[in-house]
Amino acid sequence: MRKIEILNAHTKEGVQRAIDLIKMGELVAVPTETVYGLAADARNAEAVKKIFVAKKRPNQHPLIVHIDSIEKLHEWVENIPKSVELLAKHFWPGPLTLLLKKKPEVSEIITGGLETIAVRIPDNEVLRKIMSVLDTGLAAPSANPHTKLSPTSATHVINTMSGKIAAVLDGGCCRVGIESTILNLTTEIPTILRQGPITRKMIEDVLGSHIHSPVHHSENVSGNMLKHYQPSTKSVLMNTEALIRYTESLQHKLIGVMHYSEITFSKENVVDITVPIEKTLYSQTMYDTLHKLDLLNLDEIIIESPPNLEEWSDVLDRLKKATHYL
Ligand code: TXA
Ligand code: MG
Repeated sequence: MRKIEILNAHTKEGVQRAIDLIKMGELVAVPTETVYGLAADARNAEAVKKIFVAKKRPNQHPLIVHIDSIEKLHEWVENIPKSVELLAKHFWPGPLTLLLKKKPEVSEIITGGLETIAVRIPDNEVLRKIMSVLDTGLAAPSANPHTKLSPTSATHVINTMSGKIAAVLDGGCCRVGIESTILNLTTEIPTILRQGPITRKMIEDVLGSHIHSPVHHSENVSGNMLKHYQPSTKSVLMNTEALIRYTESLQHKLIGVMHYSEITFSKENVVDITVPIEKTLYSQTMYDTLHKLDLLNLDEIIIESPPNLEEWSDVLDRLKKATHYL
């Protein structure tokens, strides 16, 4: 098995090696402000194909293309609507992905055969520098096996993708910690396809008009599959009272609990991790906490349901999918 190269994003050598590997058509996991992405040169179809193999991702699930500046947008997109300038001014670089009409020359391998392309400028200087040196966009889904937990540190990538990819560029922990909002601008009224750190209200405030945010979408958008973002350990979402009752009635099971309420567990077969109740801090630590619990060989992970507020809609979306088994 090929050993994964661990590169340091804060050294010239590390960054140069990442550039060289991508130029050679290899896959490199790279840090972004949201989660680690599994990057390939978006102009190299053979390299992009490797992403689907490494992740065991179905071919029809399209990839986000990352670019380093707004000037490069026209290389990937045509018929750029006016709203893009406004949204870019407020949210780029940052965790907002825009769905637009693709240029005919953009490979259908990236877009899963669709006429649309998802694009964003990530808020990570090293990554933007890499793209600027390569003078290309990077096709990059989250750097995890299909349907599994997203990675927010190089360690998460190493634990789940070793042997499948050339390297990981270690840039530390992701600042935001949850995947970008995806906004479809090809519909008459802009529509949120995946909830994320940029909320509906934030977008409406900038556009000055109402946008759609439907609960159900076609499963073709892999982020909208009912089953996704899952720990390997069976996981259950419970409200605070149910969680307390459940842990008190426990007999032999060894369980992990991720909670934000102040709860003291007296049983020895409960391993608990307290996460912050403040939304942005919660998002930052959510995947890391689940990765940690997932390594403990537990029978179950119990997750305290987050507050049912619009601000938390991205967290709730991920946790519902992480605990969906039908
Ligand atoms: O924050 C993020 O968005 C991270 C970082 C690495 O940028 N990326 C990420 O990529 O979450 P991925 O592939 O795990 O999720 C992207 C989602 C998928 O659900 C995919 O189906 C959807 O975007 N998507 C991409 N292109 C699309 C298109 N043309 N039409 C509809 N959905 C699309
Ligand atoms: Mg993903």
